[in-house]
Amino acid sequence: MTKPLIVVNFKAYGEVCGEAGLGLARACEEIGKETGTSIVSCPQMVDLALVAQSIRAPVWSQSSDAVSPGGRTGHTTVKAIKGAGATGTLVNHSESRKLLFDIEDIVKRCREEGIVSCVCTNNIRTSIAAAALGPDFVAVEPPELIGGDVSVTSADPEIVSNAVEGVKAIDRKVNVLCGAGVKNSADVAKAIELGARGVLLASGVVKAKDPRSVLRDLASAL
Ligand code: G3P
Repeated sequence: MTKPLIVVNFKAYGEVCGEAGLGLARACEEIGKETGTSIVSCPQMVDLALVAQSIRAPVWSQSSDAVSPGGRTGHTTVKAIKGAGATGTLVNHSESRKLLFDIEDIVKRCREEGIVSCVCTNNIRTSIAAAALGPDFVAVEPPELIGGDVSVTSADPEIVSNAVEGVKAIDRKVNVLCGAGVKNSADVAKAIELGARGVLLASGVVKAKDPRSVLRDLASAL
């Protein structure tokens, strides 16, 4: 069973391009160390190698493509993600959807390369389907709550507990994260109570006036 974790997706927010993105990743590392929690950074793709090579805390890619290395242009292979120093990748984020057979391909490549795969899903059924592919994590996020102020854990707690139950019925090794609207320690505590192994969030940290204090608060629930 993995340690509970907080995954921070920097998305394409203007607040975290380049140096600012590295600054936020350093804050994730620092607060993780200070609180003894695992805080994962998912920086913007162009900053992936810079961030992964600058901090020791885990860094994941926001996305990856279902292609083998070779004569292609504009793709990001799982091999390149690992080469950049990242230890995992989000797959099928609701803002970067993939076809089912591409999700399976990426999960398989992650397993071969020895990096973590976290497949994002939008409801209970797709969470169960994703579990059948054997990723390390399934992250359930109702799209309508993404970027909002109401956490999935209070707006739709059943989606979390039922996704956990459904995923575990398929494969006990797959852990569930939840996300959308997560903002504070109460949301994280509720996620854990509902059976999730942690949270995936973005705006609550990236757009915060003081991301360090938000990270500290989130981590206090673990
Ligand atoms: O990847 C995290 C995400 O989609 C949730 O975003 O802004 O609601 O925390 P947010």
